[in-house]
Amino acid sequence: MKAWVVRKYGFPENMSIIEVPKPEIAVNEILVKIKAVSINDWDLSNIEGKPWINRLLAGPFRPKIQIMGCDIAGVVEAVGQSVSKFKVGDKVYGDLSSHKFGGFAEYVATRENQICHMAEGMSFEVAAAIPQAGMLAYQALHDFSEIKEGMNILVNGAGGGVGTYVVQMLKNHKVHLTGVDSEAKREFLLQLGYDAFVNYQKEDFTESDMKYDIIIDCKTNRPFHRYSRKLKENGEYISIGGDLLKVIRIMLMSKQLEKKYGKKFSCVQLNANRNLPQINKIFENGLLNPIIDSKRFTLNEGRKALEYYASGLFLGKVLIKTED
Ligand SMILES: NC(=O)c1ccc[n+]([C@@H]2O[C@H](COP(=O)([O-])OP(=O)(O)OC[C@H]3O[C@@H](n4cnc5c(N)ncnc54)[C@H](OP(=O)(O)O)[C@@H]3O)[C@@H](O)[C@H]2O)c1
Repeated sequence: MKAWVVRKYGFPENMSIIEVPKPEIAVNEILVKIKAVSINDWDLSNIEGKPWINRLLAGPFRPKIQIMGCDIAGVVEAVGQSVSKFKVGDKVYGDLSSHKFGGFAEYVATRENQICHMAEGMSFEVAAAIPQAGMLAYQALHDFSEIKEGMNILVNGAGGGVGTYVVQMLKNHKVHLTGVDSEAKREFLLQLGYDAFVNYQKEDFTESDMKYDIIIDCKTNRPFHRYSRKLKENGEYISIGGDLLKVIRIMLMSKQLEKKYGKKFSCVQLNANRNLPQINKIFENGLLNPIIDSKRFTLNEGRKALEYYASGLFLGKVLIKTED
């Protein structure tokens, strides 16, 4: 099969598309013929080997995982003897990041807890756009402060995968939602449902007078005292990702931060695929319409797709289709 393989860190020069053996499945594994895969920040940083701190997990000198790509959708081609939830021909999707990635290829061997059946009416493209960003958004909204009518909520990095799901998931909640992103995304985000917009290139939301009940941050790029002063009395700051040292500090020291600043500091620790069944229901009720960038790439164009993703010029999710 064809696959994009990375044997040494370095983007884009060390990505090559080569023929590799089709994966063999263990008794508890499933072979999926991939139809579409979307790109996540994690794929790119694991190819670049940057920031350096990522190498603690990804491999200090060379990547432990050589075929990146975690958000896939496809068709089950074979199942191991102990697999009970899936059968040949099932349409499935999921985030492979907690097992061994492998999505930038024609086939992948994975496990039952890495995939979920696709919802009725879901296309492969839509399914591949959902898993990681969809789970981060869902878990940010369900695992921390309860969302209540009238709340004032801000999303920093609103135009990416997570921010475009958060706004859709809050559609039926009567909250006031502010999105922070670059000017080019203003109209798009206001049309998508954000009530207010802040252009981070011109304004610093931590300098305004507005206070929030919840800040959901995909960038985590400011000192904590600046977040704490933007929160209302019982407000909560929820980090999704960004500056890794700050994210790790929140992960390990949320109690100390709360004591120091008098506000809750939390961090989503992705539980991959956990709520895909709920996402299926939301999709089937017509309440979720993943935003997919209008440019499409084939598997052969994988490098171009990642370069486009790295340029930051995309809207929503960047997608690679494995069949031309
Ligand atoms: N917590 C976990 O367990 C976990 C697991 C996996 C991934 N993650 C992390 O979760 C995050 C996912 O976010 P995502 O997929 O929504 O990101 P994304 O798709 O990369 O989007 C980020 C958005 O932020 C905007 N942006 C860039 N710089 C900004 C700034 N300084 N201030 C405000 N906005 C800015 C970008 O727009 P422009 O580029 O046009 O400015 C883009 O629209 C990533 O940081 C990822 O590493 C976390």
